[in-house]
Amino acid sequence: MEISYWQSRWRKNNTGWHMDDVYPPLPQIWEQASFKADATVLVPLCGKSMDLHWLADHAQHVIGVEVSQKALQQVIQKHPEHFSKDTSHGFTVYRSQSMELWEGDFLTLPTSEITPPDVIYDKAAIVALPPDVRAEYAQKLIDCCGENTQILLQTFEYKQDEMNGPPFSVEEDEIRQHFAKEFSLRLMYEQSKFNKLRKFQQRGLSSYLREKIFLLEPL
Ligand SMILES: C[S@@+](CC[C@H](N)C(=O)[O-])C[C@H]1O[C@@H](n2cnc3c(N)ncnc32)[C@H](O)[C@@H]1O
Repeated sequence: MEISYWQSRWRKNNTGWHMDDVYPPLPQIWEQASFKADATVLVPLCGKSMDLHWLADHAQHVIGVEVSQKALQQVIQKHPEHFSKDTSHGFTVYRSQSMELWEGDFLTLPTSEITPPDVIYDKAAIVALPPDVRAEYAQKLIDCCGENTQILLQTFEYKQDEMNGPPFSVEEDEIRQHFAKEFSLRLMYEQSKFNKLRKFQQRGLSSYLREKIFLLEPL
């Protein structure tokens, strides 16, 4: 998916992936994973997700990266803190006490300018990307990691020939291909979403739809 595809969706307010509340499995998974209360969390392809605010309340520092200015303006409007505005390496960067929002292409994020996160939170991010970009995206996540960074990664699995992405089907085998050299994989959550996300049936999905969340822990 080209950046222009996403910009056009934001322009038309065609943001059907957005949830008005926090992603339901997040609080429980956060607790199960026992992340530190003073964690720094990186949220690639963050959109205007309510999870950013939840994470800011449950961790120390949240770094969101998103190409859409419109999305980030809405995050800023909802957040109670004051934001300063700066530029760095071609990105516009908005900073508050608990949040840092980088506006630009995540694949070109200057990793040396980012605090190595304790947690990377990928929600509707790897599944937003077509197969030919995912290896580069996965490598970028790895490049952002410090020694002890853990990654939460949300995926969908379905028969790709039944429906066009996004969201794309990203099989567990593919996740292993991208990450198994450096990380172990723990399945934290698995649910059938076939009957819950009926809009996908209107797009052709007819067999199954599984949603999974993995915790990747450094080896
Ligand atoms: C499916 S949405 C998910 C947004 C958010 N994670 C959520 O759960 O609401 C994907 C988001 O990624 C953004 N995006 C796509 N490619 C990007 C890139 N290369 N760099 C930064 N943001 C990107 C899009 O603008 C869009 O907001």
